[in-house]
Amino acid sequence: MPELIPVLDKETILRKVDEVARQISSDYCDSDLVIIGVLKGAFIFMADLVRRLDIRRFSIDFVRLASYGSASASSGKISLLKDIETDIRGKDVLIIEDILDTGRTLNFLHQHIAASAPRSIETCVLIEKSERRATEVHVKYICHKVQSGFLVGYGLDFDETYRNLPAIFNLKF
Ligand code: IMP
Ligand code: MG
Repeated sequence: MPELIPVLDKETILRKVDEVARQISSDYCDSDLVIIGVLKGAFIFMADLVRRLDIRRFSIDFVRLASYGSASASSGKISLLKDIETDIRGKDVLIIEDILDTGRTLNFLHQHIAASAPRSIETCVLIEKSERRATEVHVKYICHKVQSGFLVGYGLDFDETYRNLPAIFNLKF
């Protein structure tokens, strides 16, 4: 059985979600905002984040992306399994992703979203993992930074398991 080593507890995660939500609320107070979550990993983070936003009107949509490879290492080949259903032309888009690792997923998504001509695109990630970055990605809002490790919990999975853990752990095989 793999071991679960605590990395971020519930309180630490939510304190930062609060802070980032305040920042986003102030940056987008007068905008036509569409928040796009990346399924499945971002679902818990996004649910906590949007409930803390002090913005009167915004839309929510989702994409589902898959990068094929083994359960803990991405292959670099990204495919779009579900697209947004919202017309984002001329709107301000904020992408919500669970974790930035190699950067390939966000790079792919950024290009895909840009093709629909929104007014702006920014990204918010729960975790930025620096060790394996393969492509440069600009992320405006980052909750937590880690160097390495395979993290699970709070939406993050290993082979579809552990998403429901209320905190974040390093999975040691
Ligand atoms: P990237 O394309 O390599 O940046 O990978 C991003 C995707 O890989 C994320 O959306 C996650 O689904 C997955 N991923 C990368 N690192 C981890 C991790 O430590 N735990 C769980 N999923 C991860
Ligand atoms: Mg995943």
